[in-house]
Amino acid sequence: MIPQTFIQELLHRVDIVDVVERHVRLKRAGSNYVACCPFHAEKTPSFTVSQTKQFYHCFGCGAHGTAVGFLMEYSGLGFVEAVKDLAQSVGMTVPEVRSERSHERAAEGENLYTILLTAARFYRTCLKDAPRAIDYLKRRGLSGDIAKRFGIGYAPDGWQNLAGAFPDYDAKALASAGLVKQNEEGRRYDVFRDRVMFPIVDVRGNVIGFGGRVLEASDGAKYLNSPETPVFEKGRELYGLYQARRAIRDAGRVIVVEGYMDVVALAQNAIEYAVATLGTATTAQHVQKLLRQSDEVIFCFDGDSAGRRAAWKALETSLPELVDGKQVRFLFLPQGEDPDSYVRSRGKDVFERLLNTATPLSRYLMDELTGQVDLSSAEGRAALIHAAKPHLAQLQNNTFRLQLVRDVAEKARLTPEEVEAACGLTPAARKRAASPARAQRRGGPELWRNLLRIFLEAPELVHRVSEEQKRELQGDPEFAPVVALISAIEKTDVHSTAALLEATRNSEYAELYTQVRTDLLSGGNEADKLEADLKGAFLQLESRALDAAYRDLLSRPSLSESERQERDRLWQRLTELKGAGGVGQPSPM
Ligand code: CTP
Ligand code: MN
Repeated sequence: MIPQTFIQELLHRVDIVDVVERHVRLKRAGSNYVACCPFHAEKTPSFTVSQTKQFYHCFGCGAHGTAVGFLMEYSGLGFVEAVKDLAQSVGMTVPEVRSERSHERAAEGENLYTILLTAARFYRTCLKDAPRAIDYLKRRGLSGDIAKRFGIGYAPDGWQNLAGAFPDYDAKALASAGLVKQNEEGRRYDVFRDRVMFPIVDVRGNVIGFGGRVLEASDGAKYLNSPETPVFEKGRELYGLYQARRAIRDAGRVIVVEGYMDVVALAQNAIEYAVATLGTATTAQHVQKLLRQSDEVIFCFDGDSAGRRAAWKALETSLPELVDGKQVRFLFLPQGEDPDSYVRSRGKDVFERLLNTATPLSRYLMDELTGQVDLSSAEGRAALIHAAKPHLAQLQNNTFRLQLVRDVAEKARLTPEEVEAACGLTPAARKRAASPARAQRRGGPELWRNLLRIFLEAPELVHRVSEEQKRELQGDPEFAPVVALISAIEKTDVHSTAALLEATRNSEYAELYTQVRTDLLSGGNEADKLEADLKGAFLQLESRALDAAYRDLLSRPSLSESERQERDRLWQRLTELKGAGGVGQPSPM
């Protein structure tokens, strides 16, 4: 058997959107993703994937599940195979029962997140005691709030500071995490020393690596970055995406810049929808990830030749990813400026105005293609077709490609059909626009359903339930699914909803839990809101019990003095509960 803890860790690490996207092209719809269902034939998309909840559901055929479930259903894999497959995709090894070594190794893998988080906390604490580093950040215009938002820290000077943060400085995992190295004599030392530390965080909020910047220019590298590890793959990750997600959704666009400092400086100047690649070129995975978050991606590069090269690479990488409804644009900053310097000197408004003038990919492409040829000659126009061909071939057969074909055709003095033929493209088919999946609306949920919803969404809230409240739930068979869920959470100590669903896969209420989770697909819930909901639910539970007792007293022909007092006390409490937001309302009889 695969240990539940491993499955939890796995679900924690994979992103169901990536998993599904490997097989089905998803389209963003509000906070979810939709597609035509791969499990039944349909013309309008009712297959929905929730990234926050790590769960999919088809409103058409009812197929549903976690990333594991998807692979089982889609690829016809068994449970163990699906888990192995997923594990492999994120560099984890499924622990073999009875093999101690692989057990150790899996444990080490699971450890990396914890270790990196511990290190991030340590660096952050050190920043407080490092006036030099604080001063450096201040000079770069950063407030304490922004430093906190990005978890910026400081790795002090010295060779073994991390020994103070970890009980076992010699643990293998510290080296696997890229935090320490070994010299020839076998002595260990900290990799990051006297550097401002930028934690790199994945979309789930896990620390997966660091970028460390020197405080003063020196002969060494300005930035030192964590090596790639089982939890950190540079071509997949974007610095700042975790912090930017909400702003990206609100702004409807995302800016891609080159540096950590650019992201942070933009956020400092209230432009919170910027992310950076990690000192690497833009990859297809980056573009896919971004186009899933937003309909518009703006690459913002320095105006120098390196910036131009990087932009052209980003263009080439983006071409195959362009679906109708998405747009990619390019912004070149004036020579000698980067987003950090530009926004600091001119402010948010000027920067955003400049953003609005960013060049659409199509124009950038056309300008580059036509810039190389002499359109006044037949040779030049033929050369244009020759130059355009590989780029057009990269595009999906959609309206956007048709538009570009027309642009090229016009310049080349050909018909669009002739361009398609010359470039070996299959002619564009007319497509009807798909109507977006309709959100499901339901009436107000019953109390037990509401409690299920809360705990499925935020399992950690079970710790807020008192023993007395638990007894109250146990006393009423209606709450049996809630009681079972609470005990499953307590037993497995799961901390994510997808993990919880896997942990209750064999429960008699599994189907019910899944249904409730499915109802949740529309709209994410903030932790505070859920906590308030929980309070409300228990107030409701309390007022329900009180109301029953109150009615019972009212229905009696006569009351003793103490019963009368009890009745008045109940009335009083019910009125208070109503004021506190408890839904129960005393019946005015
Ligand atoms: N980079 C790197 N190693 C270097 C230099 C740069 O990994 N020696 C990466 C970092 O991810 C950096 C990005 O390339 O953020 C862009 O480099 P640069 O523009 O020089 O860095 P900034 O973030 O702008 O930093 P600063 O303004 O502090 O110089
Ligand atoms: Mn810079």
